[in-house]
Amino acid sequence: MLSLLITGAAGFVGGNLAVAAASRWQTYLTCHRSPVVANGAHVVGPLDLADRDHVEHVIRQVKPAVIVHAASLSGIDPCEANPERAWQINVGGTKNIAAAARRWRSRLVYLSTDLVFDGRKDGRTPIHVKNLCDVLLECAARPDLQGVLHVAGPQRMSRMDFGRQICDSLGLDRELLIPTTFQNSSADGRRPADCALDCSKARSVLATPIWDTVQGLREMLMQGSNFRSDLLQ
Ligand SMILES: NC(=O)c1ccc[n+]([C@@H]2O[C@H](COP(=O)([O-])OP(=O)(O)OC[C@H]3O[C@@H](n4cnc5c(N)ncnc54)[C@H](OP(=O)(O)O)[C@@H]3O)[C@@H](O)[C@H]2O)c1
Repeated sequence: MLSLLITGAAGFVGGNLAVAAASRWQTYLTCHRSPVVANGAHVVGPLDLADRDHVEHVIRQVKPAVIVHAASLSGIDPCEANPERAWQINVGGTKNIAAAARRWRSRLVYLSTDLVFDGRKDGRTPIHVKNLCDVLLECAARPDLQGVLHVAGPQRMSRMDFGRQICDSLGLDRELLIPTTFQNSSADGRRPADCALDCSKARSVLATPIWDTVQGLREMLMQGSNFRSDLLQ
């Protein structure tokens, strides 16, 4: 089995990825402050990504075939409240991981965010986290995949339409949803309204099929999970 190191394994994506990878990879997980559920994987850390020497030490020890870098200071609010720390972790930490990956010849799969774009219309392309993890593991296993891939659901929809679909799937009354403008909804008015991604390149190169929202919601219901923790927003 090839070795895979997942950073941010206590997080939403990293935690789901650790579960998905467990049977296919020899898995190493890094933690930071929150505890990590090991599930048979090796836990290394606590590791602060901003600590270059420690990052180098961990990667030199493990020498993973692949690193999926899912750790970040991810919320917009904490990043806006402390931009220096956000830069230190999201830029500096990623630089540290990339440098060590290059030195120890690990393939690196890095997750960015749709919020780097400044779209103005209300739109998004949601994807189920389990489906995203399958894509990440395909990227990990395929050295031929290089460069940037936009990975998201196949349908562009407004947040209102997504809410209506969730209501329909859960048997809730969609008429109870109250439409509002994006600009009126708290601090989100300062944020990109349109986070929809053009994923045609991903669809053409990936073997993993991308689920539409109906399939994602069906999967979520089959798992009997809480939809808020099971859907990427
Ligand atoms: N979730 C989404 O809807 C979504 C959508 C698009 C893109 N993404 C991208 O996917 C990636 C993962 O997102 P997520 O939702 O899984 O985030 P998350 O749940 O907030 O997890 C982030 C992880 O990073 C760790 N971390 C934070 N600071 C660290 C540091 N200094 N050193 C080491 N680890 C640190 C956290 O550990 P502690 O909690 O222990 O500090 C946590 O385990 C991010 O790059 C995000 O931009 C996510």
